[in-house]
Order: sequence, then structure tokens, then C-alpha cells
Amino acid sequence: MPSTTRGGETKARARRLALLFGGALLAASLASSLIARAQEPDEEDENNRAALVAHGRDVFHHICAQCHSDKKGVNLVGPSLYGVVGRKAGTEPGYAYSDAMRNFGKVWTPEELTHYLWDPQAWIPGVKMHFAGLKRKYNRHAVIAYLETLHD
Ligand code: HEC
Repeated sequence: MPSTTRGGETKARARRLALLFGGALLAASLASSLIARAQEPDEEDENNRAALVAHGRDVFHHICAQCHSDKKGVNLVGPSLYGVVGRKAGTEPGYAYSDAMRNFGKVWTPEELTHYLWDPQAWIPGVKMHFAGLKRKYNRHAVIAYLETLHD
């Protein structure tokens, strides 16, 4: 029956075209999302200081603020993080640190903080900060940039 065969061929061709068209759409949407990502100024651009600090403030308020205040002298579950950059670990007045933190003995530099915040328990075994860590480098750098703004 030639008409059925032709019909079948037409259907097969239509399916192939649909596949091609779908593939092209997928490629186009991937490309446009890549372009959008590259152009998003406050997503990964560490040179954009204002955007980095703003993102860091968000990270602080969403995650760290569960246990920490960014206000001077306000100790919650964790010590106040006001002025923490440049402060010796375990020395915020009025806060009862673990022995591990008190004995750590180092000053909180951005470098030290980035190691600590990646995995607090691994960097200083025995600390009582029960937090798994910020695994995304950009989030660590952003929150540290925000902490650096908290000083007199
Ligand atoms: C679940 C509660 C909790 C969360 C969430 C948390 N922390 Fe902590 N943090 C603590 C506690 C408790 C300590 C005190 C640790 C000790 O004495 O062993 C601490 C200590 C610290 C210290 C050392 C301060 C000092 O005075 O030496 C820094 C820095 C710190 N946290 C940063 C952060 C940042 C930044 C975040 C968010 C990314 C965060 N923490 C999230 C509970 C928390």
C-alpha cells in the first residue's frame, strides 16, 4: 500500500525534524543561559567588591545569624562577629569558648577564616561550632568580605 508507506515516511521525517528542532532549542537555551551567567555581575565576580559584600551580608543573615550577631558585644549561641577579622581567636569578652577555640591561638585573617569556614571541625578539632561549613568558595569569600566591614 504505497500511501501508507509514504505516510510512514512522512511521519518518520516529521519525527526527525522534531528531534532536530528540539536539539536546536536545547542548544540555544543552554547557550543563552551560559551567556546570562557570564553577564550576571554579582554572581561570581570577586572584583566587584560592593556585590561581594552585599552577597556576604545575605550569607551572614541566612546562615551565620542563626548563631551569631554582627553587632558589637552581642553574644548568642556563638560569639559576636563584630570586629572578628584581626581579632585573636577565642577572645571575645563575655563568651564561654570551648578549650579548642581558646587554645587555637591564631588571629582571624581572611586566609585563616577561609580554611575554618570550609569545615570548622576539621580546621580546629573540638570546636563547638556545629556547622558543616561553607563549601562554595564564593560564599566564603563573600561572607569574609562582609565580616571585614564590621569594625569601629
Ligand atoms: C549552629 C551555630 C553556628 C552557626 C550556624 C555558625 N556558627 Fe560560628 N560559632 C558558633 C559557636 C558555638 C562558636 C564558638 C566555638 C567554640 O568556642 O568552640 C563559633 C565560633 C565562630 C568563630 C570564631 C570566633 C572567635 O571569636 O574566635 C568564627 C569566626 C565564626 N564562628 C564564624 C561563623 C560564620 C562566618 C558563620 C556563617 C557562615 C558561622 N560562624 C556559623 C556557632 C555557629
